[in-house]
Amino acid sequence: MKDKNIYHEIKNQISVCDLYTEIVRRTLEKEGIENETLTRSIKNIKNSLSLIADCASSLREVRLQELSLANLIGEAVEICKAYKDITFVNDIPTSTTITADKNKFTSALVNIMKNAIEAGATEIKISGNASKISIENNGTLIPPEIREKIFTDGFTTKENGSGFGLMLTQKTLKEQGFDLSLAPAKNVTIFNILRK
Ligand SMILES: Nc1ncnc2c1ncn2[C@@H]1O[C@H](COP(=O)(O)OP(=O)(O)O)[C@@H](O)[C@H]1O
Ligand SMILES: [Mg+2]
Repeated sequence: MKDKNIYHEIKNQISVCDLYTEIVRRTLEKEGIENETLTRSIKNIKNSLSLIADCASSLREVRLQELSLANLIGEAVEICKAYKDITFVNDIPTSTTITADKNKFTSALVNIMKNAIEAGATEIKISGNASKISIENNGTLIPPEIREKIFTDGFTTKENGSGFGLMLTQKTLKEQGFDLSLAPAKNVTIFNILRK
């Protein structure tokens, strides 16, 4: 099977799993069933599905087009808000455009912001322009001794982490002509997406 077809097949099956997970979640809600184990399980299934979707996306070729950066960020913010509704500050002017792959760029942003949420951030600030986008968060800081390792395949400090997130994010951004790095700032966490 061609990569492209594998990609579509995986995507279709993910949609099916996602739909049924959502049905289970809504049914529990409707029946007023509050069960921590089930809630956590549903969250973990959804997380795994988005990870599989990210892996599958790397099988699909990059489709570059000119896009509104503010819109891309807006979409990523919506996805993250569903995950956890914290404060998002988006300082990017609506007129700014970038050349990127819509889905791949959005999922890169989501990955970076989800990490911030998982680090306990209460605010995520997105600023910059078409050649430099900064994503800042006020969560627990990254210890100096692991700064070098966070982009490594399989590196995680989380109990249920995969350690693929930043590796895949860096790779997918590179394919679109961007570099992803951790800013040297010591008192705040900032990830920079730089146009190469
Ligand atoms: N915004 C962040 N704040 C604090 N730590 C982070 C942040 N982003 C990434 N990290 C650290 O980098 C590690 C690797 O991240 P990632 O590749 O996304 O894998 P995972 O999220 O599965 O652990 C995380 O386990 C965490 O220790
Ligand atoms: Mg992650």
